[in-house]
Amino acid sequence: MGQEPTIGRAVAVRELTEKAAERGNEAAAKKDAIVVAEKIHKTFRSGEIEVHALRGVDLTIGTGEMVAIMGPSGCGKTTLLNSLSGLDSFDSGQVTIEGTPLAAMNDRTRTDYRARRMGFVFQSFNLLPVISAVENVEMPLLVSGVRPSEARKRALESLASVGLANRASHRPMQLSGGQIQRVTIARALVNHPALVWADEPTGNLDVGSSTEVLALMQRLNREQGQTFVIVTHDPHVAGLCGRIVRMEDGEIAADE
Ligand SMILES: Nc1ncnc2c1ncn2[C@@H]1O[C@H](COP(=O)(O)OP(=O)(O)OP(=O)(O)O)[C@@H](O)[C@H]1O
Ligand SMILES: [Mg+2]
Repeated sequence: MGQEPTIGRAVAVRELTEKAAERGNEAAAKKDAIVVAEKIHKTFRSGEIEVHALRGVDLTIGTGEMVAIMGPSGCGKTTLLNSLSGLDSFDSGQVTIEGTPLAAMNDRTRTDYRARRMGFVFQSFNLLPVISAVENVEMPLLVSGVRPSEARKRALESLASVGLANRASHRPMQLSGGQIQRVTIARALVNHPALVWADEPTGNLDVGSSTEVLALMQRLNREQGQTFVIVTHDPHVAGLCGRIVRMEDGEIAADE
């Protein structure tokens, strides 16, 4: 009799523990996928012309993956990155990032989330011309509320990691194309974002800088588990990624 409540409690505790573990697993399973895209459609209309740029794309990106997206010019790679990262709207389908549907975030939340958790290496995200390289790089930190002295320190470290410690005070127009691209990469990585979107990150780089930048991304991916989604035309870059997603005419043609 005296045993009953104890056993009852033990059973209850075990059940609770099991439930918690299940919940933990569920959370882990959800956390495992940092991005889930389901049936994404996007059509551009300009006047009479319609371009169905995304035709029902399904794509799951696991936390800590390094994924290359390849495919012919115009097949929808940039459109996909813009849609998945919440930079641009899409017509139908759902994108879930770290368990939260983009649709459930308002503009402010989405912008905040991007500043805290995402890094972008996009050609359209140009550097500001009137400020120095280090000021460009520290910008995302200042936006996220990091103290200016700390932001400066981290921006300098990030510039050093792309081999530009000695160009910190240069303005973009005093840098070469490849150096500008590396500053953009330093800026994208300075926040240690969970998820980095890169559209042709090595497009302007010579083989040496390109290899360096890729090595840096691989190291961050390995050591810090950062997730990278990299659009590239370069088979060498793609070969360094653990997974290659091939797009064709607005669809995923292969995933290997
Ligand atoms: N703002 C826009 N208005 C109209 N059509 C667009 C717009 N942006 C892209 N498109 C069209 O959508 C299709 C997909 O474009 P997207 O930029 O995603 O291609 P991509 O795969 O990134 O090509 P690239 O390798 O040349 O960068 C193309 O046919 C393009 O012409
Ligand atoms: Mg593109």
